[in-house]
Amino acid sequence: MITVKNISKIFYINKRQEGMLGAIRSMFFREYIEKIAVNDISFSISPGEIVGYIGPNGAGKSTTIKMLTGILVPTSGEIRVNGVIPYRERQKNARQIGVVFGQRTQLWGDLPTVDSFELLKQIYQIPEKKYRKNLETFTEILGLDEFLNTPVRQLSLGQRMRADIAASLLHDPAVLFLDEPTIGLDVVAKDRMRKFIREVNKERGVTVILTTHDMSDIEKLCKRMILIDKGKIMYDGELAKIKEVFGRDRILTIDFEGDVPFLEKGVQLIRSEGNRKWLKFNLEEISTAQLLAEIAKKNEIKDFIIQEPEIDYIIRKIYERGL
Ligand SMILES: Nc1ncnc2c1ncn2[C@@H]1O[C@H](COP(=O)(O)OP(=O)(O)OP(=O)(O)O)[C@@H](O)[C@H]1O
Ligand SMILES: [Mg+2]
Repeated sequence: MITVKNISKIFYINKRQEGMLGAIRSMFFREYIEKIAVNDISFSISPGEIVGYIGPNGAGKSTTIKMLTGILVPTSGEIRVNGVIPYRERQKNARQIGVVFGQRTQLWGDLPTVDSFELLKQIYQIPEKKYRKNLETFTEILGLDEFLNTPVRQLSLGQRMRADIAASLLHDPAVLFLDEPTIGLDVVAKDRMRKFIREVNKERGVTVILTTHDMSDIEKLCKRMILIDKGKIMYDGELAKIKEVFGRDRILTIDFEGDVPFLEKGVQLIRSEGNRKWLKFNLEEISTAQLLAEIAKKNEIKDFIIQEPEIDYIIRKIYERGL
């Protein structure tokens, strides 16, 4: 459905020179700095997948999305979305994709929300019946009726995001690109958005590519994750697998009876509050049962909890150290 082959995007940024002389000089000698935003990446996505596209700020996520939607032309490489080369056939591509940029609305700010929907209906030439049905469905699931007649500019962020995602789906696209669709939303609104995305994927079979900085989005929505950093793909695969590889650290919290606990080798005391100790260990080195048995030999344990590392922690480690 989507194939990306060795694409790169280089931005040429005009180098400004200082002072009056510099400004004049710049008029005759243009100097550019090359910024490689996306560096030779390849992947393919099958129909019906939900793929999380994640990476730190400036990694190249939005640039990739913009190339897939046809807004930007790749410097090199090949992209096909359902056989269409996005930047070459922008209109044809637009008919088969939906796009939401969480940072910026795609709707007309001064118009009542519903008027934006009407405009999109005209632009995409959506048949009346299909339009009515989709609008009705989205209004019900997303609770759009509370603000359909409010100008987009006056919507709260949560309302605006709901309006944007509804708008992106009115023409029944096969692929949905979501660039930070939960940014700035509160917990309840995030959940609602995730539920909607899942439903759209399941009920309508829409393929979803989603960028986010919120790892819960990925955990709740995506089986597969593509991790990108400095324009290069660092990981492409199952979320579960990466958790397995990197998630071998465990935190054991123990409440001891009595105070001077003997701790085992290979564990790291990371926090201590009276008789409660937080110990970090790695499953490669010792199993949880073994460790507990060792500690219990010399100390009396009142209570304990074992925690797996959060996905955030794992991703941060990968950003810091690489794979
Ligand atoms: N139009 C542009 N002109 C010049 N440089 C750009 C342009 N757009 C993006 N860049 C640069 O390309 C790099 C990748 O940017 P991009 O917006 O793709 O990152 P991102 O992964 O979406 O980051 P974020 O998580 O902050 O949204 C950055 O260094 C950015 O400054
Ligand atoms: Mg971005």
